[in-house]
Amino acid sequence: MNRQEIIKKTEEAKQTHLLKYVDELNEKEKEQLFSQIEEADFSLLDKLNEKQSEKKERFIQPLKALEWDEINEHHQEYEAIGLEQIRLGKVGAVLLAGGQGTRLGFDKPKGMFNVGLEKDLFIFECLINNLLEVTNKANAYIPFYIMCSEKNYEDTVAFFEEHNYFSYPKEYVLFFKQEMVPAVDYQGKIYMESKCSLSLSPNGNGGWFSSMAKAGLLKDVKERKLEWLNVFSVDNVLQRIADPVFIGATIKHGCVSGGKVVRKAEPHEKIGVLCLEDGKPQIVEYYEMTQDMISLRNEKNELAYNFGVTLNYIFKEEKLEEILNTNMPIHVVEKKIPHINENGEMISPDKPNGYKFETLALDMVHLMENCLPFECIREHEFAPIKNATGVDSVETARALLKLNNIEL
Ligand code: UTP
Repeated sequence: MNRQEIIKKTEEAKQTHLLKYVDELNEKEKEQLFSQIEEADFSLLDKLNEKQSEKKERFIQPLKALEWDEINEHHQEYEAIGLEQIRLGKVGAVLLAGGQGTRLGFDKPKGMFNVGLEKDLFIFECLINNLLEVTNKANAYIPFYIMCSEKNYEDTVAFFEEHNYFSYPKEYVLFFKQEMVPAVDYQGKIYMESKCSLSLSPNGNGGWFSSMAKAGLLKDVKERKLEWLNVFSVDNVLQRIADPVFIGATIKHGCVSGGKVVRKAEPHEKIGVLCLEDGKPQIVEYYEMTQDMISLRNEKNELAYNFGVTLNYIFKEEKLEEILNTNMPIHVVEKKIPHINENGEMISPDKPNGYKFETLALDMVHLMENCLPFECIREHEFAPIKNATGVDSVETARALLKLNNIEL
């Protein structure tokens, strides 16, 4: 696009304010601004006008989880299958670390957060320690892909370098970047981060596989002949990575994907539930659950929708390739967005001030023909750090780490 066409693009999308400072910019800054506008996907803005009522009727049913008792009974068998897959080099792990962690309010990549008390213990370190438990048992390393964003890539790579990859072999760690999309105010106007740049934010965790492909890593996955990818979030310090029991159970049950789930702490817990929608696996968010669904009981008189997802999924690699070019649903999420105000001054809001556009990894599950909900015990495997204090916070995670005899 030439500059005239880019100006036209802003006019058509009613975003001409993006050019407000253009006369104050030098040529390099102008180049940056115009190329950001050119690359920005303005069709996302249409999502703001989509009404809830336009959503189609959904037929939701419970999906039976593989519960802990049954897992325990078959533990050895599942674990042997999973360890074999790891030894054969068929398993890869993908850490989703491109988020901005705004709720935690830490200005570095979340994985650099130190949960230690008497000693340093970084979130990234916790994850690598957990991974090493598995690779030591399997006596084989697992390729560890780390998704970063444009904003945290350099810090993340430098941190791993500085800490010598926390003793994981460097050649097995591969970083890649996810794409960025513009963030808007409540009127749908794109925020600016400076006079020559838009407020761009990572496009959600749902694009991880396509971002891997764009970064050239699908080639790596295929060259290594990986058959299973375990994808998980950065913030759960008790995260079991490439858990052989989980992998083995998914294979044994003939599934193409699996999700680690925890028994809900209480019926209204704010956690997405792995269900069936129109016969296919789907995660229903807590705010989408009706009272009837929340209180529905099964034949054992237990809550029918009782297992919440922990953002730890395993996918059969060939199935991911099949859905690679499928358009994922775009979620419009209310967030705090730093920006410059009408006087060109930087503002870091302390409450939400607009929307970001995100695709979500959980929506990939619905594109799979089946998914095994695999129960894990939350006290041993689920300690997410979302907030600085209160629920799912540094405090709760520290308590759970101690409960699991991890020195802090
Ligand atoms: P969250 O939903 O907790 O989002 O991400 P966040 O951006 O990290 O945190 P808040 O909401 O601003 O406080 C869940 C997981 O998905 C990753 C995060 O790094 C985390 O591991 N993620 C999220 C990405 O990799 N990319 C994204 O664009 C968003």
